[in-house]
Parts: sequence; C-alpha cells; structure tokens
Amino acid sequence: MANLRLGDIAPDFTAATSEGTIHFHQWLGDSWGVLFSHPADYTPVCTTELGTVAKYTDQFKSRNVKVAALSVDGLESHKGWIKDINETQHTTVNFPIIADEDRKVAELYDMIHPNADSKHTVRSVFIVDPSKKIQLMITYPASTGRNFDELIRVIDSLQLTAYHKVATPANWQNGDDCVVVPSIATADIPKHFSKGFTEIKPYLRMTPQPNMN
Ligand code: BEZ
Repeated sequence: MANLRLGDIAPDFTAATSEGTIHFHQWLGDSWGVLFSHPADYTPVCTTELGTVAKYTDQFKSRNVKVAALSVDGLESHKGWIKDINETQHTTVNFPIIADEDRKVAELYDMIHPNADSKHTVRSVFIVDPSKKIQLMITYPASTGRNFDELIRVIDSLQLTAYHKVATPANWQNGDDCVVVPSIATADIPKHFSKGFTEIKPYLRMTPQPNMN
C-alpha cells in the first residue's frame, strides 16, 4: 500500500487517458503538476469540478502547471461524460482524465479509502513540483466539491517559496505581504528583497509580495 509523504517523488506510471496514453513523469516534463481523483463519472459534484478545472485552463497554464484527473471508470465512460461536462458547464475539457479501471494509479497514490468507499476513489489532490516531488496532498470527501481557487492559491505560495524565498501567512491572498523564510538572516534581507521589509520579531519578518514572473 502507498505511504506517500510530502517531499517523496510522485510515483511514475503509464496510463490510458481521454487524451491518449501518458507516461506521467515524461508528460509532466518541466511543469508543475496537479493529479486529482474523483469518485465517478456521471456524478453531479464531479461534473461541476471538472468543468471548473477546464475553466481554469489559463490560470494553470500561466503558472506552468499541467493537470490530470482520474477515476476508476473506463475511457468510453470518460469520453461520453466529457460531452456532458462541456454541455452543462459551458466549457471545453482539455486536460487528460485517466481511465484507471484496474486501480493501478489509485493504489499507487492511495486514492481509495475503503472505510469511506471500497470501490471508488475519494477526492485526492497531489501537487508535484518540476523535480517531481510531492508538495501538497489533500483529501476531500465525496460529497464536497473542491475549491480550485485554494489550489491556485497554494500553487502561488509554493512558487513564491521556490522562486522568491518567501512563505505565505495565514489566509494569504495574491498581493498580500509575505513572510521572509527563516533561512535568510535579517542582515541579508535587503540584498534579496528590493521592496523592503518589516521586522516584527526576529523570527517574523514581512516583505511585500515579490513579483511572481
Ligand atoms: C458527486 O460527484 O456528485 C458525488 C459522488 C459521490 C458521492 C456523492 C456525490
């Protein structure tokens, strides 16, 4: 059984998808990745979720993020359901939906929680960085559609940390002040952060959000 933790390399796999066969790591290339499971095709909450992800295409693309969905339904089911998603959510699904009928990927990523549902995947999300390390894992219950603004917010936070040496405080939103990471000594802050900083405590140094691109 999978026992994945943050910082682990996301397990590689080859899978049939609605957009052709993908080799996960090769498909990711130099991108960040979001791999998320849903319980089943032709279900109401999942229909709204996948439509929402399709509508966020530009937001993911501008952050260099590739997105793949997964359920244990087959390819024909996915293809038929995509037509319904496009029709009802007024969008175009343009990301791969993995057909994991043999549960190979679901088991690799521990997406089936038998005491909740022995047959279907729960709403798992994995965010993977360009080195293929897992940076976020969350699990939602089947009855709660995910908040994709929150996923974008976490991706922004992760990328600010990876590229700009800041962390983000509670309830941070794009544009708010950020926290200088503890590994930077206060004396070194000016050479890293041209927008200045405020030392509230020696361990709590705030700086305006660096420009993301
Ligand atoms: C849904 O996607 O609507 C759903 C799936 C499983 C349980 C409850 C809701």
